Amino acid sequence: MTSTLSSPFQLLCCRPSGEELLQQELEARHGIFSNVAASGFIQLEGHDLPAEPLIFEWQRLPNTRFFPLLKGESVPEQLTEAVWTFFAEQPSPWAIHLLTVDDGGASRLEGIARELTRRGNQLHPGLKKWERKPGKLFKQQKGMILQWACTDRGFLFSSSSPTELTATEPGGRTRMKMDSRAPSRSYLKIEEAFVRLGREPEAEQTVIDLGAAPGGWSFAFAKRGCQVTSIDNGPLKIDDACIRRIEHLHRDGLTFQLGKLQPPVDWLVGDMLIPPGKVLGLLRYWVDGHHCKNIVMNVKLPQNNPLPAMEPILEWMKRYPELQVRQFYHDRREVTIFGAVNS
Ligand SMILES: C[S@@+](CC[C@H](N)C(=O)[O-])C[C@H]1O[C@@H](n2cnc3c(N)ncnc32)[C@H](O)[C@@H]1O
Repeated sequence: MTSTLSSPFQLLCCRPSGEELLQQELEARHGIFSNVAASGFIQLEGHDLPAEPLIFEWQRLPNTRFFPLLKGESVPEQLTEAVWTFFAEQPSPWAIHLLTVDDGGASRLEGIARELTRRGNQLHPGLKKWERKPGKLFKQQKGMILQWACTDRGFLFSSSSPTELTATEPGGRTRMKMDSRAPSRSYLKIEEAFVRLGREPEAEQTVIDLGAAPGGWSFAFAKRGCQVTSIDNGPLKIDDACIRRIEHLHRDGLTFQLGKLQPPVDWLVGDMLIPPGKVLGLLRYWVDGHHCKNIVMNVKLPQNNPLPAMEPILEWMKRYPELQVRQFYHDRREVTIFGAVNS
């Protein structure tokens, strides 16, 4: 192998323009310094990846290698060999995740990927018959996921087991499909939460939705047959028969509580524009008080010092290892706490 191939390094994907938050998290919570490798890509400075997924991480690329490759240059033999080294060592099922660095690079990346696969087949006859759909490998938790990306300067690639990754979609971009009946794009956030949880709400389950208007989250539960109580002073704009499953209460979500003898609700969800300190108050009532079985709670990040503002929530979460907090693909300047509790 020539010296143009870099040594392995650790790379993380995050929201483009959210790099600073991920860097702050790495430094403040894990003592790891990092650089921005490209828009939405953070390179760790000589450290291993933390075992647990980071809040602002969308995906991880363990042991990434970089090969300089300028626009218009053909794919060199050394790169083909390097990309398929894992297969030369031990043939195993493989699937490719193409990660676009910016909107303009997609077709170039696809072209390089086609060329690398074509040349890989020449180098290793039989390679093609080991190719699988990525979803299958994630389901079976075996084989190799090849993550490939392209910047202006060159080609990035990482080969790892699905068990080492933190998301099943390329670059952690869990794109959800909009339902034309949903009254807001927030609907996509709760749909993504169901994917991340690995399960959907079931018919007849009870739901309390704090800060529900105009009703995207309430609609997502109601269309699955849940009994939803939507708390908001604003109007719901759901124009669908499932509205009959929703009771709209014009109440304050910060002070709304269950009656003393009421059993826990199946789902407590919240998407209010309130500071993290108020969110912590809600978590204490609903989770510590055993008033819900599942929770999806969005936390809006303040402009100034977002991580220190989150710290009391993160401290509280240590008592609930079953809860996760992540920045979703459909989140903007916010993160989502989700998981099953009190079950
Ligand atoms: C981002 S929107 C929620 C969008 C909703 N999840 C959806 O899917 O359509 C925030 C909502 O929180 C409500 N809100 C803010 N503070 C509230 C409070 N203290 N009690 C109840 N609702 C509140 C606002 O009226 C607003 O409708």
